[in-house]
Amino acid sequence: MNKKMTINSIQKSKGVRPLVMITAYDALFAKLLEPSSDMILVGDSLNMSFAGKSDTLSTTMDQMLYHTNAVCMGAKNSFIICDMPFGTYTNKTDALKNSIRVFQETDADCVKIEGGEDKADIVKHLTSNGIAVCGHIGLLPQSVRSEGGYKVKGKTSKEQLQLIEDARAIESAGAFCMVIEGVKAEVASEITNCVDIPVIGIGAGANVDGQVLVFSDMLGLFEEFTPKFVKKYIDGATLVKEALKQYSDEVQSREFPTEEYTY
Ligand code: KIV
Repeated sequence: MNKKMTINSIQKSKGVRPLVMITAYDALFAKLLEPSSDMILVGDSLNMSFAGKSDTLSTTMDQMLYHTNAVCMGAKNSFIICDMPFGTYTNKTDALKNSIRVFQETDADCVKIEGGEDKADIVKHLTSNGIAVCGHIGLLPQSVRSEGGYKVKGKTSKEQLQLIEDARAIESAGAFCMVIEGVKAEVASEITNCVDIPVIGIGAGANVDGQVLVFSDMLGLFEEFTPKFVKKYIDGATLVKEALKQYSDEVQSREFPTEEYTY
């Protein structure tokens, strides 16, 4: 994954190899995960992982622009996706105005917006005005309060049909790829076969065109809760706490700093 991806190379990967997407919120982690990812998502999940809020709804444009700039600085060779915060794309005018800010004030390659058929006109307006769009269907974290929780989608045939309509509508509106979150695996698989653009899953099973995980979840740094679909590749929180405890102990016992760390 040495060469920076483009919307064209991302689209051409469908059916050839699975795509790897990981979130990042700052330059430090963006640099660390750049060699292992095709796309870096500056997710509005930063409002929970970094800002300590209980959901993503209070994320602001200024927050997204700040963190996207930091990620772009750390991963200059990566395809970077900036999540559009809740309330910033409720109509075409606001959606375009706010997306233009992303393109003019950061080096992000595209924006991501949540929604399916109901947001197709917004996606169309953005793509026809030069904004590359990654869709996001299925479980929509920005709907957590209106739906009374995070609900897995695709359990009923009505929901399954709606998801297929959503995917087709987003594709027809010009999205170059889409994230599908919290959807029954067999439905995500069917949707992947229904559209020609890459479908990147999170909690959507294995038969999709790629996977995305939130870095602080997969590195075991976020301790508040762990969704079923998260595999913790390291127990980051324990490792960090152990290191900090050792430092604290060594400062108190005057073991640190030794000669080696002294001018
Ligand atoms: O905000 C985010 O990190 C996301 C992922 C869950 C896909 O949208």
